[in-house]
Amino acid sequence: MDNGYAHHTEIQRRKFLEWVGLSGLAFALPVLSLEGCTTKPEAEQVAESPVFRNVFDLEAQSRKIMGNDAIEYLNGGADDLRTVKANAEGYRKFQIRERRLIDVTNISTRIELFGQTLASPIILSPVGFQKFFHPDGELATARAAASRKHQLVVSTVSNYPVGEIATAYGSNLWFQLYPTSDRKITKVLLEKAEQAGCTVCMLTVDTPVLGNRETSATTLLKLIEAGELKMGNLEGILPKGQSFTDMTMTWELIDWLHTNCKMKIVIKGIVTKEDAALAVKYGADGVVVSNHGGRQLESDRGTIECLTEVVDEIKGRIPVLIDGGVRRGTDVFKALAIGADAVCIGRPFCWGLGALGQPGVEMALDILDAELVRDMRLAGATSIDQINRDFVSAV
Ligand SMILES: Cc1cc2nc3c(=O)[nH]c(=O)nc-3n(C[C@H](O)[C@H](O)[C@H](O)COP(=O)(O)O)c2cc1C
Repeated sequence: MDNGYAHHTEIQRRKFLEWVGLSGLAFALPVLSLEGCTTKPEAEQVAESPVFRNVFDLEAQSRKIMGNDAIEYLNGGADDLRTVKANAEGYRKFQIRERRLIDVTNISTRIELFGQTLASPIILSPVGFQKFFHPDGELATARAAASRKHQLVVSTVSNYPVGEIATAYGSNLWFQLYPTSDRKITKVLLEKAEQAGCTVCMLTVDTPVLGNRETSATTLLKLIEAGELKMGNLEGILPKGQSFTDMTMTWELIDWLHTNCKMKIVIKGIVTKEDAALAVKYGADGVVVSNHGGRQLESDRGTIECLTEVVDEIKGRIPVLIDGGVRRGTDVFKALAIGADAVCIGRPFCWGLGALGQPGVEMALDILDAELVRDMRLAGATSIDQINRDFVSAV
């Protein structure tokens, strides 16, 4: 363990103790023996405090705090979870070809995307119902993303309304759209997002119906039905019993969005070159290679395995983003090397949220940012635009 790592760990430990001291959730953490914080010697506290070395440590902590229903909803997926696994395992099929003897003192992770400069290429994917993971839900996530200068995408089915999340986040929030089958309702959703200052509309196209998720959702549905978890953006506009998904959705919707939406239109859920070509043809401003974190069709294909055909079809005409199974800085590096312009994460920041609230999301982002910077140094790339296909080889 070098000094830098020990320092990082100490900061994590202090942040955690400070947060627990301030948080109303302290009661929920007996497993951490927090009563010892004030009475036990410093050395023993260090031994007992959880150490978050990577996002998997945050996952382990979130399991202790959130309870089975929430963790199953969060970690669950379609059918037998083979696509969930394929997303993560897909990254093992690519290897990094690192270069040597390059001065890597100064590293820049900045990127330009949709007219914005982003400090990091790691973006927080839209995740619904975040109050299920922590009482502060999307507000905690928004504050964390803002404090760490990461781009955030708000889900249509956020518990807090997009306007409140925008206040917690600041400017340039992005909004994820599930179009309802009633365009009047969809239009109201778009207006709410635009009034909140959102600059990008990320249209999710992999959800004509919900995927077959056998391990989750029962408690979530009960909480929604009981009014304990509200859908902040759809409250009062979506009639009871009506779905927030639309089976009739076709490419015509992109034309409709061009005339009914001022935000840039990014299509989330593209996994083939054929649809990538259509996305360009219909004037999309960008695409996200995504299979909804393996929660929709059990396709058995990891998104990283779909990236090459999409990037090669699009040929730089519009940005290509990717999500699904990104858990390490090396995963981010490989996706960028294959040709992604940015990389999104879903579950990892939610593990932080469930484990610790806002400081946990910050920790997840700090961990992945630190891993990426270290990996760039080790691979000999000092800026994101240097990370090209020469850095990666397929098995
Ligand atoms: C609990 C959960 C809720 C999600 N909710 C949404 C959503 O409301 N809208 C959406 O487009 N995608 C949603 N997604 C998919 C994510 O945006 C993203 O595609 C996926 O989580 C990426 O995979 P990863 O979790 O392995 O990083 C959700 C994913 C999870 C895990």
